[in-house]
Amino acid sequence: MISRNDPCFCGSGKKWKRCHYPQEPELTSSDIARDYWNKHQIQLKTPEQIAGIRIASKLTANLLKKACSMATAGVTTLEINHFVEAETKKANARPAPLGYGHPPYPAAICTSLNDVVCHGIPDKRPLQDGDILNIDISCELNGFYGDCSAMVMIGDVGEEKRRVVETSKECLRLAIEVCRPGMPLYAIGDAITDYARSQNCSVVHQFVGHGCGTDFHEEPQIPHCRNNISTPLVEGMTFTIEPMINAGVPDSTIDAHDKWTARTNDGKPSAQWEHLLVITASGCEILTIPD
Ligand code: MF3
Ligand code: CO
Repeated sequence: MISRNDPCFCGSGKKWKRCHYPQEPELTSSDIARDYWNKHQIQLKTPEQIAGIRIASKLTANLLKKACSMATAGVTTLEINHFVEAETKKANARPAPLGYGHPPYPAAICTSLNDVVCHGIPDKRPLQDGDILNIDISCELNGFYGDCSAMVMIGDVGEEKRRVVETSKECLRLAIEVCRPGMPLYAIGDAITDYARSQNCSVVHQFVGHGCGTDFHEEPQIPHCRNNISTPLVEGMTFTIEPMINAGVPDSTIDAHDKWTARTNDGKPSAQWEHLLVITASGCEILTIPD
């Protein structure tokens, strides 16, 4: 018996559930939902699904807020990881990164320090004055997902690091501002690229935002750099925007030993902020706002 996560029988290499999996008629009742699924494998969410994603996202955002307030000089990222993992379990949720991918991601959260672009693994190095840290948290609760990240500046932070932290935050804000039904997906990359360049920063192209909500990573991919994906945003799309902005070159290299940690090729700092949002009838709603 083929299961939803097996490769599709048609040989596309995609999971069955993302390819020829028979769709429940009630999930694709509108023409647009059927069209987005068939053309792009984008699942437009029902109001019931959005309600579930909203609850998972609220938990994720509240955990991120607590994790960020823990991040001070002398604390280790492993301590923050343990705290988030325990709190996630207390909330009857599951840390989505733990065991994810190949090789299986070894921790509950990602902690990306200074020149680490993303997917940094929590460790025993105490945070130091002048560090910048991204904490990225993703939770599954009752089959729904939340995903968000934020930066913390530890103590006195130099001009270059401060610039990437502030620029990536403003890039995310400007990108969210353009999200409404009818806008082409590439408008997100345009908003981010225009602002990043104006601040003398570069935009990482090797990692993207993503559909998220009923799975951790879904279609569509959301590039933060300039691109030509003209798929119009439509009501019911749920996806992350998570621009990684560098002070120097945009290129990064994945650690040969852990196969996860991505560092800038020139050793200059990188920063990232992330929200999960849903496209509404008139604009969008950010789902990962803490209380
Ligand atoms: N927000 C990150 C992402 O969407 C979280 C990565 S978790 C990891 O990719 F397990 F993939 F590292
Ligand atoms: Co994400």
